[in-house]
This record gives sequence, C-alpha cells and structure tokens, in this order.
Amino acid sequence: MNKLSSQNIIDLEYKFGAHNYHPLPVVLKEGKGVFVWDVEGKKYFDFLSAYSAVNQGHCHPKIVNALIEQSKKLTLTSRAFHNNILWKYEEYITNLFGYDKVLPMNTGVEGGETAVKLARKWAYEVKKVPVNKAKIIFVEGNFWGRTLAAISSSTDSSSTKGFGPFMPGYEIIPYNNIPALENALKDPNVAAFMVEPIQGEAGVVVPDEDYLLKAYNLCKKSNVLFIADEVQTGIGRTGKMLCCDHYDFKPDILILGKALSGGVFPVSAVLSSDEVMLTIKPGEHGSTFGGNPIACEVAIAALEVIVNENMIDNAERLGKVFRREINSFIKTSTIAKLVRGKGLLNAIVINDAEDGDTAWNICMSMAEKGLLAKPTHGNIIRFAPPLIINDEELGECVKIITTTLKEFDK
Ligand SMILES: Cc1ncc(COP(=O)(O)O)c(C=O)c1O
Repeated sequence: MNKLSSQNIIDLEYKFGAHNYHPLPVVLKEGKGVFVWDVEGKKYFDFLSAYSAVNQGHCHPKIVNALIEQSKKLTLTSRAFHNNILWKYEEYITNLFGYDKVLPMNTGVEGGETAVKLARKWAYEVKKVPVNKAKIIFVEGNFWGRTLAAISSSTDSSSTKGFGPFMPGYEIIPYNNIPALENALKDPNVAAFMVEPIQGEAGVVVPDEDYLLKAYNLCKKSNVLFIADEVQTGIGRTGKMLCCDHYDFKPDILILGKALSGGVFPVSAVLSSDEVMLTIKPGEHGSTFGGNPIACEVAIAALEVIVNENMIDNAERLGKVFRREINSFIKTSTIAKLVRGKGLLNAIVINDAEDGDTAWNICMSMAEKGLLAKPTHGNIIRFAPPLIINDEELGECVKIITTTLKEFDK
C-alpha cells in the first residue's frame, strides 16, 4: 500500500469516524518533549499539550517505561481482586497532596462524576440534607466533560443543545461573583460548590485574586464542600502543583486527571478526607479500569517527573516571560486584545467579535510556521506548551506567534 498522505488520512477518518471534533488539519505520528511531527515529517511545537495532559512532554521516557514494565507483568484485575500496586499509588498520591484517601478513576469527567456523587452522599449522611434534596452549585462557563451529568451544568449551548433532559439538583451562578455565591449558599440543602480555579475551556478565564479563597471560606461557613476541578489546571500547569496552591487553601474534594498520567494513559483521581470518602460503601461506585496496575505505575512516574524535574518552577517563570513578551507586543497590535493566564496556561484574546474565523485562521498560519495551538471559544487562542519548554524554545515560539499576529493586524 502506498504511504498515506495527511489528506488521505483525514478523509478516511471523516469517512469512518463520527464527526464529533473539528481538528486542525494536521496528522501527527510522533512526539518527543515539546515537539510533534506529522506524517510528512514536518516538525511542530505543541502549544496545546493535549489540553494540558502532556505537561511532562511527549513520550517522557520515565513515564513510558513505567507503562511498558508494568504492562509486561499485570495489566488489569478489576477491583474484584486486589493488585500489588494500587496501595503504593494510593499511599504516594495521598501523601503528596495531603489527603486521607483517593478514589481512582480513568477520565476527567469520571472524576467530576465521582466528586458530585461523593458530595451528595456526604450531604445525606453527614450534613443530614433531606433525601433527594441535595444541591450542587456550579458557575457559568464551567467545563468538566461530556457526560449527561457534566453537560447538565453547562451554559454552553454547543454542549447542551439536543441532549436534554438534564440532571436535577444543580444551581448555576455567575463565575467570579462572591455575592452570587453568598446568596446561593443560603439554601441549607447545598452539598457542594464545584469550580475550576481557572476556566480552561471557557478561554483561560482567571478569576479575581481573592475570589477562590473567599469562596472557600464562605463554603466553610455554610458547611458546604468546596470541590476544585483541577483536571486542567493541576499538576504544575499554572506554576504551582495545584492552582489552588496560589491561594493557600486546600479544597475539600480535589479532582485530578489529564497530566496525572503525562498523557500516556487515561488516569483520574478524586482526593478527599475520610469523612467524605467513607460515605461511599462497597458496591456503590467504581469502574472496571480505575486503579489498574498500569495506571497506578504510570501516575506515580508522572507525578515524580513533575516534582523531580523542575517543571513547576519552569512553568511559573516562563509563564511570566510569555505574558510579558505578548503584552509588550499587544501595545502596538490591533488584532490581539489581551493575554491572560497563570504559569504556562495562557490565552490570547483576538479582536474579532464578528466573523469568528480569525482565531482559526491564525492557528492555521501558526501551524504552517511550526506551532500548533487551537482556538477555545471563537476568538480566544489557548497557549499551553509542555512544562519542559526552555527559554530559547519559548523565545522562538513567541516570535512565531507575534509574526503571525502581525500578518492579521487590521
Ligand atoms: C477542567 C476540566 N475538567 C474535566 C475535564 C474532562 O476530562 P476528560 O476529557 O478526561 O473526561 C476537562 C477536559 O477538558 C477539563 O478541562
């Protein structure tokens, strides 16, 4: 068979696969560190990192090695039997993040589901909320995945349209709005407030500096659990291990995913106290693959790599450089409106309220120049390279980004 071109592959994918994504027309076949290569051999900087799953860089040898070694010994037992690795992972991750217990799942959205179920169970058993009255508060613009429970809290019509009816027991309030939270917390049946410390999919929306800590303290006052969805912001991405660490508080329930495996395997986790975690009894929640030995070894390796290879400080430092450089460019730009973010989770807002294609076209032009990024919401482009990027590489990337933006100046 002749070698397939990118276009051949794209055509085949659209022929046989569901059309539930709209990818940039590049077909990647290899990744190493901050780079990926397409089937024609063109090299790109990856500035999406699989939505922040590949924080540790593509195919990190220690993480890949953990996968290979464990897959030769034992891959899956289900939780019908114990395996000899799960305890080791549980001990490691609970010590690292300072929680009593972990509940292992696979994808980010399962982590969110688990957190919501835990909060409801805790509300009935500990807070003594009347049966079926527990309420979870979410904020506008949230994103935690695509299951019905997740989209039931969504305010984005492209997530919800055509998929109703939705899950009851939710209240949605404005993001970054303390009075709205204060008001919602007046209901004694509220079990939890679930929030992304920075809204990734909504376009890297960073709340006011005092919002999260104030929200956490209000939850404490009302005996309500604070659930931090750190699936995208966690594991070093924002320049601290957790984004909540910037504000010096520890959420009651923490959800991790994506970079928990360095993008090598679907691994997610929910961490909490004994008081919350032990409300769920055997047979009440679980997953065939959650806590499998490969996932456990991969997650330990992925976390060790983040801690031992200076990626968190690098994200903090180079994030500042990125925003400083882009900000100084924006002063004379008519197409770029603003840059925002924390650590190496950043976005540039494009000055294009009407046609909505400009951000996409900018991403296409950056791809031609060897940098892959993707619009999040219409006119917002997210920039999230692997946390191992160095000064020189970042400088090269800033040049590609600003040169491209200049081409689109009005
Ligand atoms: C904050 C947040 N939570 C949850 C999810 C869902 O993760 P997954 O796609 O692994 O289910 C995402 C995915 O983008 C996310 O950004």
